[in-house]
Amino acid sequence: MSLLPKPFSALVIGSSGTIGSHFVQLLENNPSCSRVIGIHRNSDHAIDYRRPETIAASANSLTELGPFQLIINTVGVLHSEQWMPEKKLDDLNPSQLAEMFNTNTIGPALTIRYFSKLLDPKHGVMATLSAKVGSIEDNRLGGWYSYRASKAALNMVIKTASIEFARTKPNIALIALHPGTVNSGLSQPFRGQQIGRDPLEAVNDMFHVLENVNKEDSGSFLTYAGEKLPW
Ligand SMILES: NC(=O)c1ccc[n+]([C@@H]2O[C@H](COP(=O)([O-])OP(=O)(O)OC[C@H]3O[C@@H](n4cnc5c(N)ncnc54)[C@H](OP(=O)(O)O)[C@@H]3O)[C@@H](O)[C@H]2O)c1
Repeated sequence: MSLLPKPFSALVIGSSGTIGSHFVQLLENNPSCSRVIGIHRNSDHAIDYRRPETIAASANSLTELGPFQLIINTVGVLHSEQWMPEKKLDDLNPSQLAEMFNTNTIGPALTIRYFSKLLDPKHGVMATLSAKVGSIEDNRLGGWYSYRASKAALNMVIKTASIEFARTKPNIALIALHPGTVNSGLSQPFRGQQIGRDPLEAVNDMFHVLENVNKEDSGSFLTYAGEKLPW
């Protein structure tokens, strides 16, 4: 049975990004969505993973606007002005590794900690955007060390939290979601414009998956098409 009631209230974290902003657009146009709030580094209820204290503060500031039945965290980083994904071991450096783990693992983990308290205990879904390249089993090409490792670690946090939630919040599903290659700033240096899908199409597909998530799916790594990925 779906964990998303009608109507439902939604929160999108990272709504300044391509996938985040398209989720907000999609939900604003969904008649079953009674309210959608988008937050990012420069919004009201700002959340900035470089300032970890903002995570709890942002969640606390949203308490009165909750509960939410759907929370989607779309924050993530793959490259910066200083570095691109590593192709070989000799490219590894501490600042890139630290930044990738901070944004792709530590921030999202603390977001699950604090924002899951805003979920409706009766029924709800919390999805965090991961990436198929974070699958250890699926890793055939190598490279992209820190991105892969930070998403693999994120996946472990989601899986572990889902086991705790089965006891403490049995009507909440925690999901790791792979969006596919989407045309965005994140994918742009990697031919995202040519090979990436239209973001609205991608969020439509992902929302369809989230609408159909049930309790048994909690702790799964799902693609935009609803397929289960190996961890
Ligand atoms: N696009 C793809 O092909 C693809 C494929 C697989 C997985 N994903 C995953 O999907 C998610 C969304 O990607 P996207 O394509 O929409 O990327 P995007 O357009 O670059 O958006 C990234 C979002 O993350 C936020 N962000 C980055 N660093 C942050 C920090 N330190 N603190 C708080 N927010 C921060 C950005 O905020 P600012 O606007 O303030 O920078 C923005 O809202 C990511 O987790 C990504 O790993 C994407």
